[in-house]
Amino acid sequence: WITLGTSALALFLIILGISAVHGGHTPAASGIETINPEHVRDDARFKEPGLVKSKSSDHDYDLYFVASAFMYEPGEVEIPVGSTVKVHVTSPDVVHGFQVVGTNINMMAEPGLISTYEMTFDETGEHLILCNEYCGVGHADMTSKLIIV
Ligand code: CUA
Repeated sequence: WITLGTSALALFLIILGISAVHGGHTPAASGIETINPEHVRDDARFKEPGLVKSKSSDHDYDLYFVASAFMYEPGEVEIPVGSTVKVHVTSPDVVHGFQVVGTNINMMAEPGLISTYEMTFDETGEHLILCNEYCGVGHADMTSKLIIV
């Protein structure tokens, strides 16, 4: 039985490995943008992260966040109500969470990847952003806020 169990495990791992490498089942192969975590701050978008208005529309924005131990930058963002915002988040150190309470935004901020999610904010109010991936001693204090005005 041990031989059978071990063989089955080996088979599954081989299938998983082949699928990941040749099937394109990796985040980068799925079209998620990559970034060198050691050079996040050298990237113009994440040097001073925050809200950037689209050149083509008055209602479209990009919003850049850096999640690092143990804070988000920016620590608070004001968004005009009715805006469609594409949120981009990355981490220069370890895996963090990026949950915007009361919305559908709930991403992981992973070193090496830029996670994105687009949504329209139709109502005024405040949304707490919190880290829901345990990242170290300051995990519980890691918050930011979206203020829809
Ligand atoms: Cu960052 Cu938990």
